[in-house]
Amino acid sequence: MPTEPENTSPPNPSAASGPGRRRALLAAGAVLAAGVGATAGRLAGGDGAAHGGGTAGAPPEEGPVPFHGARQAGVTAAQLPATGLLAFDLPAASAAADRETLRALLSRWTGTLASAARPGAEPRLSTVGPARITSLVGLGPALTARLGLPAPAGLAELPPFPGDRLDPARGGGDLLLQLSAADPWTLSVVTELAVTDARAAGAAPRWSQRGFLPVTAPGATPRNLFGFKDGTANPDEESARQWVWGPPGPHEHATVLVYRRIRLDTAAFAALPEEQRNLAMGRRAGDGAPLTGTAERDEPDLYAKHPDGAYVIPVTAHVRLTGPRLDGGARMLRRGYSYDDGPEDRGLLFCAFVRDTGQFTRVQERLAARDALNPFVTHTASAVAYVLPGVSEGGTLGGHLWA
Ligand code: HEM
Repeated sequence: MPTEPENTSPPNPSAASGPGRRRALLAAGAVLAAGVGATAGRLAGGDGAAHGGGTAGAPPEEGPVPFHGARQAGVTAAQLPATGLLAFDLPAASAAADRETLRALLSRWTGTLASAARPGAEPRLSTVGPARITSLVGLGPALTARLGLPAPAGLAELPPFPGDRLDPARGGGDLLLQLSAADPWTLSVVTELAVTDARAAGAAPRWSQRGFLPVTAPGATPRNLFGFKDGTANPDEESARQWVWGPPGPHEHATVLVYRRIRLDTAAFAALPEEQRNLAMGRRAGDGAPLTGTAERDEPDLYAKHPDGAYVIPVTAHVRLTGPRLDGGARMLRRGYSYDDGPEDRGLLFCAFVRDTGQFTRVQERLAARDALNPFVTHTASAVAYVLPGVSEGGTLGGHLWA
């Protein structure tokens, strides 16, 4: 039976000395102090090559998350508990005019986001200490095609899936900005600054969506509104290099975000007996362990059977249908958030980072056909974005687009 590597590889320690040391400590501190989602940062080795290495044993440090790095911190840093996704459209006047608008906006955002992540940048961001904010900026597939911009080969619109109930007013868009912060106040202030930049450059807000994570012990995986730990089986740095980030070349530190707004019927799901909920997921809600294991990080054994011949992890279980074994080992980096837009509309903001949108499409086709969660979930919005590489001090986001 093929086995997958354990998801416990330490992050890349490459920048544990020299000029990267300070950044390494800040990044490690961000991971340790985040209190939530630290797992994602560690497993994806997110703060490795790009952000200075999440040095094991570094002291916890409350501090701003560095904006600069080879990869955007909104993908690599530990998840912060308050998030906002914002989509914008360009006027679509002419390709040349839109290129100028885009260039101007990326330049404004680089300045604003870099300065928001720095201590003392703006009085409203220093209420109790330096603001903790991360960001990622992405371009929609239609925009890159329309403007003839260089984009990863794996960037494509998603096909329709059975069961989709997508609201176009809540999805798509020329540009996508995800801001995440330690608290909703910081998120609100930086959102205001970013929207002001967009309007000044000539871009129009299209949709926005807020999300949140539960308060979670440092290093623990946050739960979603179905009550399960979500983000356990994320790739380590080596696997992420193959499946999340681009191949060596201009897109090596770029990735593709697939966003799905998924309404969850949490009350109906909670009304199921606990055993049925666990069978639907293929993991136990309590400790997150697969039904074939005893610890959260145990690899699900998809071949294990009961004496009567039935699979321990049922054929319609979510972790069976999403498992990398069905897909040549492919893994996506999932950094989901919950949302609550009123009692009838609560759920999951599914955010996955992949090299190729086909990775998402293949899994979603399997899920749409027979996921045991289907009676309790509805996909209500969708977006795809080419997440630009990060930027070093003095550079501008998307600078490579104009070379
Ligand atoms: C419909 C709402 C969804 C819920 C509530 C949900 C929840 C979960 C949970 C609790 C896990 C197990 C823990 C973990 O590894 O993170 C998981 C795993 C996973 N999910 Fe979902 N998920 C949902 C939708 C999706 C969608 C739309 C996709 C992609 C098309 C997806 C892809 C995955 C993948 C790739 C894994 C890891 C499988 C593995 O490697 O073992 N999920 N999900």
